[in-house]
Amino acid sequence: MGRSSLLKRIFALNVAAFVLAGLVLAFTPATVSAEIARLEAAVLVLVLAATAAIDFLLLRRALAPLRRLSGLMETVEPLHPGQRLPEEDSSPEEIRRLAVAFNGMLARLEEERRRSVERSLGAQEAERLRVAQELHDGIGQSLTALMLQIDRAARRVPQENPLQGELCGAREAARTLLGEVREVATRLRPEALDDLGLANALEALCARVGDQSGIPVRLSVDPGLPPLSPEAELVVFRIAQEALSNTLRHADASAAELTLAVGDDGTVTLRAADDGRGLGDSVPGAGIQGMHERALLLGGTCQLRTLPAGGTEVALRLRTAEVVA
Ligand SMILES: Nc1ncnc2c1ncn2[C@@H]1O[C@H](COP(=O)(O)OP(=O)(O)OP(=O)(O)O)[C@@H](O)[C@H]1O
Ligand SMILES: [Mg+2]
Repeated sequence: MGRSSLLKRIFALNVAAFVLAGLVLAFTPATVSAEIARLEAAVLVLVLAATAAIDFLLLRRALAPLRRLSGLMETVEPLHPGQRLPEEDSSPEEIRRLAVAFNGMLARLEEERRRSVERSLGAQEAERLRVAQELHDGIGQSLTALMLQIDRAARRVPQENPLQGELCGAREAARTLLGEVREVATRLRPEALDDLGLANALEALCARVGDQSGIPVRLSVDPGLPPLSPEAELVVFRIAQEALSNTLRHADASAAELTLAVGDDGTVTLRAADDGRGLGDSVPGAGIQGMHERALLLGGTCQLRTLPAGGTEVALRLRTAEVVA
């Protein structure tokens, strides 16, 4: 049967059922007298019931594609974009149009979601940059000025004066504070990413995490990795940062590793793994949600799993076509 309309199908089935009932009345000994006899009424009811049952079965078959379609609609997962309903030419016209309309709506929703994630992550990055600059240029400069002032004061005070010790302590405190401010600024906005590129920024990140936690973080970057776009570099860096921060906060791990590689099929993969306690039945929070959203932004995926040997693995996969500079 070519593409027919559901309305026509249902109409044809009903007509068939009526014709069947008519034929039963016309070609069987059944008669209906003006004053309906009891037996005649019973036969009539029986025929009508049989007709209704056949009609029901046929209609159920005709509407099966609609049930299949709604079943498929329920399986569409917002976190896995790109899923579409089949738009089969053999389906009734209304069903095919419904699938086409639903697919169009999915495409518009996905695009809108991508844009709103882009807007909110863009605003987040801009705000981080602003705070990092303020910390660096504002508080950082003030602390540097304070250290110089303490230095000048120390030079005016004779060496043997007990005030020297106090000034030295104050200068050290200001220096430590300056280091901490720079550290926070770097975490907010990885300068190395803009200045030295992704591999160096990841190296600095692993070294910093290793120093802070005492957990060795091994980094391996594929030498054949093509240069990535600035947006892709930021996505990779932020996901690596969140994955390692989760390792420090939740995993109770003794080692972690970060691998960035490009596969034969052109997929760029960032893998962050630790040997900690694994995800268990933990519920994803803003951190994991953010990783998914950043991956979606570039049309990629970010999957988390507990490794067979224990520990957690975060795998970000991006298609080269979307991320190469
Ligand atoms: N490497 C890991 N090892 C063990 N558990 C983890 C690991 N990464 C995540 N988890 C679990 O998953 C949960 C959710 O992580 P997620 O990063 O979304 O939120 P969070 O780290 O608790 O808070 P934040 O929003 O600040 O990141 C964590 O609370 C933790 O229980
Ligand atoms: Mg987290």
